[in-house]
Amino acid sequence: MSMYIDLLKKVLLDLHRVNQNEYVPIRRKKQNLKRNFLLLFNGVLPKNKYQICDVKPYDPEARINGIDWPTYADSMIGLKRMNNIEYCVSKVIEEHVPGDLIETGVWRGGSVIFMAALLRDKQVSDRNVWVADSFEGLPKPNTVKYAADKNDIHYMHPELAISMETVKDNFRKYDLLGDNIKFLKGWFKDTLPYAPIEKLAVLRLDGDMYESTMDGLVNLYSKLSKGGYIIIDDWGVVPGCKQAVLDYRQQHHITAEIIAIDASGVFWKKT
Ligand SMILES: C[S@@+](CC[C@H](N)C(=O)[O-])C[C@H]1O[C@@H](n2cnc3c(N)ncnc32)[C@H](O)[C@@H]1O
Repeated sequence: MSMYIDLLKKVLLDLHRVNQNEYVPIRRKKQNLKRNFLLLFNGVLPKNKYQICDVKPYDPEARINGIDWPTYADSMIGLKRMNNIEYCVSKVIEEHVPGDLIETGVWRGGSVIFMAALLRDKQVSDRNVWVADSFEGLPKPNTVKYAADKNDIHYMHPELAISMETVKDNFRKYDLLGDNIKFLKGWFKDTLPYAPIEKLAVLRLDGDMYESTMDGLVNLYSKLSKGGYIIIDDWGVVPGCKQAVLDYRQQHHITAEIIAIDASGVFWKKT
């Protein structure tokens, strides 16, 4: 057991800030008188000094189960899914399963920062961590090709658009931005088919939508080594994501047991 790794998980999830509320700036206009009144104040107050915020009470359960979008934390996946990353990465190292680690859909970078920390902690220097994202949020649904994304509104959330510079800064914050961290910037459909990745030992898909999940599976699953792990972050909460996984498994006759991590995430070992 590594105290560094245990502490890092808490810090990445903001679980160490016990009993402190979060303050979420009010940005979007809502059809609500009180909010509009507050927004009016937001307009006249000097922005560098004051901001009107919603108070979000400290909720460790949400952070353990990864069911909220944190205001400050560097990852939204929660402690159980962080523990799962630790399990998968430790296993592939122990069992000498060849290949790099990747997450498709990194947001502020917390999960990939954690992968990099695990490699550093275990003194592994021959594996890369691939960081794949548009760094501008999710795509608008392509309903002609992917009917399952018809009602998907993730693209409307500016909170999900985090720039590559911010993610790099987050790596630097933990002293983990090394040569083994490789960025793939752009839509998955454009970057993943040409990514110069030879082999993967851990493939983590966290792109929410059917299209984003399918792009990860189609372009990367064949590169996952036998004995490696695939992790699906949104299986339990985004029906389109689950559908993409079921479709891909059926098309490729994959029967490996799907193991639940929590109410959202699942994983399996490639056999
Ligand atoms: C839910 S967030 C990922 C959370 C992150 N794994 C964490 O540790 O908190 C989803 C991310 O996927 C990215 N994304 C989703 N679909 C994409 C696509 N088709 N191409 C590129 N990026 C995509 C978004 O930009 C966003 O950063």
